[in-house]
Amino acid sequence: MSMFEPLVFSGVQPTGNLHLGNYLGAIKRWVALQENHNCIYCVVDQHAITQAMSVWGGPAELMRNTREVAAAFLAAGVDPQKHIVFNQSRVRQHAELAWVFNCVARMGWLSRMTQFKDKAGKDRENASVGLFTYPNLMAADILVYRATHVPVGEDQKQHLELTRDIAQKFNVDFSDRIAELGLGMETKSGDETISSYFPLTEPVIGGPAARLMSLRDGTKKMSKSDPSDLSRINLIDDPDTISKKIRKAKTDSEPLPSDLEGLATRPEADNLVGIYAALTDTDKESVLRDFGGQQFSVFKPALADLAVAKLGPIASEMRRISADPGYVDAVLKQGGERASVLAEATMRDVRDIVGFLQD
Ligand code: AMP
Ligand code: TRP
Repeated sequence: MSMFEPLVFSGVQPTGNLHLGNYLGAIKRWVALQENHNCIYCVVDQHAITQAMSVWGGPAELMRNTREVAAAFLAAGVDPQKHIVFNQSRVRQHAELAWVFNCVARMGWLSRMTQFKDKAGKDRENASVGLFTYPNLMAADILVYRATHVPVGEDQKQHLELTRDIAQKFNVDFSDRIAELGLGMETKSGDETISSYFPLTEPVIGGPAARLMSLRDGTKKMSKSDPSDLSRINLIDDPDTISKKIRKAKTDSEPLPSDLEGLATRPEADNLVGIYAALTDTDKESVLRDFGGQQFSVFKPALADLAVAKLGPIASEMRRISADPGYVDAVLKQGGERASVLAEATMRDVRDIVGFLQD
């Protein structure tokens, strides 16, 4: 067990079409963590520009999406007074630490990142350098606060393993210097005890919605960028649209099974049961106890009513908050100021540890 102060950090990219996967896999769980932890939640706008401008939409769209994602955090119940909410680019220390991590992480580590391979596609020569080094910036987002816990969906697991590898290499490479400056925590590294500056962050991944799948194809992740709007439920969808998308969701023709094993070869059924479970804060077993043996003609309307009841209030709250962009901007500004104080304290240490002269 490390002695680091528990702190939660997570982020969402402002790239449009915030969907049910983002909510159930991440944001809803952030809200729960606020009860017992200090939390920092970030709209990671610097990550949004890693792909072609035609993908992220250009400056006006980025500003709109940044405010919309911030409004979604607030509408879902993130508390910007007790915790910290801001957009990444306001806190320069993220990019500054990412540079140091560019020099800690190895090419081989980044070459294994599956999200880079997916996003770069076949034309890798034409991918931005930022898309390749993006996991180093993500590690910096987390470690500039020395955060210990990061709640995300399953797709971010590999990036969090990389974050631990970067923290570990930094700690080992600079161990003597960290100890000399008295900045470390005693931690175990294999059989040795070393003086660590960064915690080995724990991923907080799990529950029935850690990886929501497309409503059109149970083998593909629900994603912001899927060209088919029917593949996902957007947080701003109105009740009729939500009901229609669930009605049209791909399924098979069998009734629901009564145990988990029966879902193993039925990805679409598994996905809808997972959504029901996550929306009701239960698990898939319990949903199957209620609906096992029922046809989709019974289950889908029940799921649609549930989704409308849970998401409707969030969508109307998002609209209410978005009607006052001055409020959202003030939240982000104040959050950025608070985050900067914490991030600068870390960077002062890091500059000393690395050997950068400063006043
Ligand atoms: P992104 O949209 O990539 O910025 O993701 C924001 C958060 O939502 C991250 O924690 C992701 O892991 C999570 N997330 C994205 N898509 C899904 C999905 N289909 N199922 C569950 N979580 C997801
Ligand atoms: N990479 C994450 C995603 O695409 C977003 C992200 C950036 C993030 N920095 C982070 C998530 C730090 C958690 C912690 O979903």
